[in-house]
Amino acid sequence: MKALVFISVKQALEYKEHPDPIIKDGFAMVELKAAALNRRDWWITQGMYANIKTPSILGSDGCGIYNGEEVIINPSIEWGSDIRFQSDKYKILGMEEDGTFAEKIAVRKNNIYKKPAHLTSEEAAALPLSGLTAYRALFTRCAAEAGDNVLISGVGGGTALMACQFAIAAGANVYVTSGSEDKIKKAVALGAKGGANYKDRDAMKNLGKSAGGFDVVIDSAGGAGFDMLLRMCRKGAQVAIYGGTTGNIEKINVPNLFYKQISIHGSTMGSDMEFKKMLEFVGEYKIVPVIDKVFDLKNGNEAVEMMAGSPQFGKLVLKI
Ligand SMILES: NC(=O)c1ccc[n+]([C@@H]2O[C@H](COP(=O)([O-])OP(=O)(O)OC[C@H]3O[C@@H](n4cnc5c(N)ncnc54)[C@H](OP(=O)(O)O)[C@@H]3O)[C@@H](O)[C@H]2O)c1
Repeated sequence: MKALVFISVKQALEYKEHPDPIIKDGFAMVELKAAALNRRDWWITQGMYANIKTPSILGSDGCGIYNGEEVIINPSIEWGSDIRFQSDKYKILGMEEDGTFAEKIAVRKNNIYKKPAHLTSEEAAALPLSGLTAYRALFTRCAAEAGDNVLISGVGGGTALMACQFAIAAGANVYVTSGSEDKIKKAVALGAKGGANYKDRDAMKNLGKSAGGFDVVIDSAGGAGFDMLLRMCRKGAQVAIYGGTTGNIEKINVPNLFYKQISIHGSTMGSDMEFKKMLEFVGEYKIVPVIDKVFDLKNGNEAVEMMAGSPQFGKLVLKI
């Protein structure tokens, strides 16, 4: 088969002939039609990930054909039976197991799900990792509900944008932050009520005031800006953090945290049940993941390079 192979850190992925996957017991072959990128793929190409193995095939998101039907793949492997956290055997598709940037993939049969009927294969490929992470952070961890004031930081992020779409569908009053005014406008066009540039402290303060504070905050940046998000919270707010794009949080105003009874939840990916519920939610509200650009698999490096500057609004998808 043809695949985009990860040969070495900080080197372009190579589009080349690669041995077909071996189908072990309990696994099945999916003929892939589309895959999508996540920040994780970028971290791995830059050597910023644990236990990197080469050569290997990256990609956690995929849609393809299995048994004559269009399917999508749950990239969350061996979550286990505890809804609170993943098992010690847990892994994410696309390192260490070969991923979706290829014509074929061997996956556990119980990680294969029917593609939501209203989505094209490219749209469906954009959904799994971001959809699952957004669903758990928003609904399981933060119990977001209709009428809540929800703030999504860095809406240009693939998972953040999915969380924004889910929260709007659930009837929340959704506000966003971004480093780009244009991305804020695009989020408003999708149904967000407003936003602010996270680089502008006054604009952030004003957003918090004009919205009347936030019941739920979903963040993947961490770093120096996190304390401002906490200051924008209402009493009893639920805050989920699923990424650390801007690094560790060195300073938190502690009285603000305890006086307002704020809960901060770490969140990663999600369980099999959450994946199933996420697909039901997406089907019920006919949510269509936003795609910024589709590339042919053989040009996948252009998509990886695009991730360096994050100009995109929506997912980068590979057509296979
Ligand atoms: N734990 C998990 O299960 C899980 C799952 C998915 C992702 N993640 C992590 O979450 C992060 C985002 O991943 P992704 O794939 O969704 O990423 P992505 O599409 O690459 O998003 C990156 C976005 O981060 C935003 N950003 C940059 N600086 C920021 C700041 N100071 N404050 C707020 N936002 C800022 C930017 O938003 P604007 O363009 O709007 O400025 C940028 O578009 C990564 O760190 C990733 O590793 C973790």
